[in-house]
Amino acid sequence: MARTVALVGAGDVAKYFVEEFLRVGYKVIVLSRAARPWFSDRPDIIFCVSDYTTASFLEIFDTYTVEAVFCLIHDNSFLYTSVHESILSACTASKTAKRFVPSEYDGNIDVHWDKPRFHLHTHVPFRERLARQDAIKYTLLCHGWFMDYVVPADKIYLKDIYPVWPVDINNGFDDVVIPGSGEEAIGLTAARDVARVGAQLLEVPEWTEKTYVCGEYTTWNVLIAQLGRFYGRRFNIVYKPVSGVQKVMDDPAATETALNFAYMEEWNFSGASAPPKEQLLSEVRLRSVAELLEDGKRGGVV
Ligand SMILES: NC(=O)c1ccc[n+]([C@@H]2O[C@H](COP(=O)([O-])OP(=O)(O)OC[C@H]3O[C@@H](n4cnc5c(N)ncnc54)[C@H](OP(=O)(O)O)[C@@H]3O)[C@@H](O)[C@H]2O)c1
Repeated sequence: MARTVALVGAGDVAKYFVEEFLRVGYKVIVLSRAARPWFSDRPDIIFCVSDYTTASFLEIFDTYTVEAVFCLIHDNSFLYTSVHESILSACTASKTAKRFVPSEYDGNIDVHWDKPRFHLHTHVPFRERLARQDAIKYTLLCHGWFMDYVVPADKIYLKDIYPVWPVDINNGFDDVVIPGSGEEAIGLTAARDVARVGAQLLEVPEWTEKTYVCGEYTTWNVLIAQLGRFYGRRFNIVYKPVSGVQKVMDDPAATETALNFAYMEEWNFSGASAPPKEQLLSEVRLRSVAELLEDGKRGGVV
């Protein structure tokens, strides 16, 4: 009988997880708060609408003998913690679901556990919550930036987030604003490769608290030059002083949007997106930026 995995949240990254778990023979259950056509129209997965409560999760996990749960919601409010708490409670009560990967997908959370700072009231307390229990095996899967943003929008499932991702690939904007010197380390991994790591994790009997992977370590200066050569573009780089970012973070009148942008700029210039090299999981082959760019020339999603 095929082993069963549940994905909570039917968004962009979840699409790669669906494809990669199916590819290696898993039965896939996708949970969402409402019908999402990309998922709900597929005959090869089971799509369940859920109100994201413990009762709803438990019923679905035990009905389908779910073995592991990957949360893929994207939320930086109290909802993040509440949905994760409900999954943890459901797994604890479940007869079958005993492995849980929360919606982390960050960078170096050993050194930069507090970045991006909009995770301080969501991811950080939930990490502490997980560490205080031992009923459920969990791992915090971290890989840096999703590398997909180097590829045009029609070749990836992720939505365009320029200028949070500072280089525009889709609309012909040449201005690139880089916080810091552009020489700080950044880490990138393709979302599909992260999903492959997720599937590989289920073959590993014991999990470490954190699972770090990284397709490529680079810097913004190197990456922008590489993208310029590949796309025949001439980017105009403006370096934004770190003090300017700090000023926004210290400003009590800063809007939430301005603060969140500054937190991502800090993630860039602090090196927080680069997973610790000495802790990398090495079993899964991950694509480099050059390989992903080449894959972007072919049909389909990279
Ligand atoms: N490191 C990186 O470069 C990077 C980049 C992008 C994302 N991420 C991370 O990857 C994970 C998945 O991101 P994604 O891009 O796939 O996210 P997404 O497509 O924006 O959203 C994923 C799901 O989150 C749920 N969601 C969104 N807003 C919500 C709200 N206000 N209340 C309740 N649920 C909400 C929705 O679930 P329903 O199906 O129930 O509606 C949605 O389908 C997140 O942890 C995100 O932080 C990392």
